[in-house]
Amino acid sequence: MGSLLTDNDAMMQRADLCAECGGHAMMPKRRRPAAWLVMRVANAFFRLARNPVEAIADDEEWRAWEVDCFRLLHAPEFTAVCARDGHPSVSVLPGRDLSQDLAAGMLRPAHLAAAGAELRRAHRLHSRHHGAAWSHGDPHTGNFLFDAKTGRARLVDFEMRHHRELSEARRHADDLLVMLQDVCGRCARDEWLPLATAFLEGYGRGEIIASLAGLLRVPRGIPRVWWAVRTSWMRGAELARRMDALRAAVL
Ligand SMILES: Nc1ncnc2c1ncn2[C@@H]1O[C@H](COP(=O)(O)OP(=O)(O)O)[C@@H](O)[C@H]1O
Ligand SMILES: [Mg+2]
Repeated sequence: MGSLLTDNDAMMQRADLCAECGGHAMMPKRRRPAAWLVMRVANAFFRLARNPVEAIADDEEWRAWEVDCFRLLHAPEFTAVCARDGHPSVSVLPGRDLSQDLAAGMLRPAHLAAAGAELRRAHRLHSRHHGAAWSHGDPHTGNFLFDAKTGRARLVDFEMRHHRELSEARRHADDLLVMLQDVCGRCARDEWLPLATAFLEGYGRGEIIASLAGLLRVPRGIPRVWWAVRTSWMRGAELARRMDALRAAVL
C-alpha cells in the first residue's frame, strides 16, 4: 500500500542536510493528497479481514505518530522533526531496505536475525498510545533498513498502528507474522525455513514465538484475501506447506 500513500519521489529528491537537526541528512515524509481516502477504505477492509491494525487516516495524528515513533526508536543518534511546513522530516538512516535484497534474491539469514533483534529491542519500548509496550503494525521487509557496515537493522514507516484493545503479546506476535508472510511469499522454497528461523532466533522471545504458532494457519474467507496480499499471492498449497513446516519448527 506504501507507494499509493507516500510520495516517495518527493521524499528521495528532497533528502537534504538540515542545520537545525545537528547536521543530519534529513528526508521529508509526504503523503499523496488522496491517502486519507485510501486509508479509510483500507481500514474498512481490514476490519472484515481481521487484520488488527488501522492505517492512520487523520493527517495530524499520522504526523505526530511518525515523529514520536521515529524518535522513540532512533534517538539520540537520529532524529525526527515537524518541519516549518508541518510535514514530518526524519534522519536518513544508513543502509538499504531488506525488500530490495529479498527482490534480488540476496536476503540472507543474518539480515533477518538483525531484523528480529531490532524488533525485540523495539518491543521493549513503551508506547503511551497503547499504555503498554510498543509495536509497529506493518514491519515487512520494506520497513527495515539494514546497515551492512554495522550489521544493524532499523525500522521506518509509522503509519499503521495496532488496535489499542489488543494485548501486548498479540500485537507482538502479529508483528512477527507480518514479516514472515512477506518473506514466505517472495523467497525460494529451500530458503524459507533458514530465513524464517533466523528471524525468530534473532527475536528470541520464546513465549511470543510459541503464541505465534496459532497465527500460522492460513484462514478462509475475507481474511484469506489479506493473507494473499501479504504473501504476494502465493498459491494456497505451497503457502500451507511452508506454514506447516514453520509451525513444526516453532513447536
Ligand atoms: N529514514 C529513512 N532513511 C533512509 N531510507 C528511508 C527512510 N525512511 C524510508 N526510507 C526508504 O524509503 C522507502 C519508503 O519509505 P516508507 O517510510 O516505508 O514509506 P511507504 O512504505 O509508505 O512508501 C523505504 O522502504 C526505505 O527504502
Ligand atoms: Mg514502507
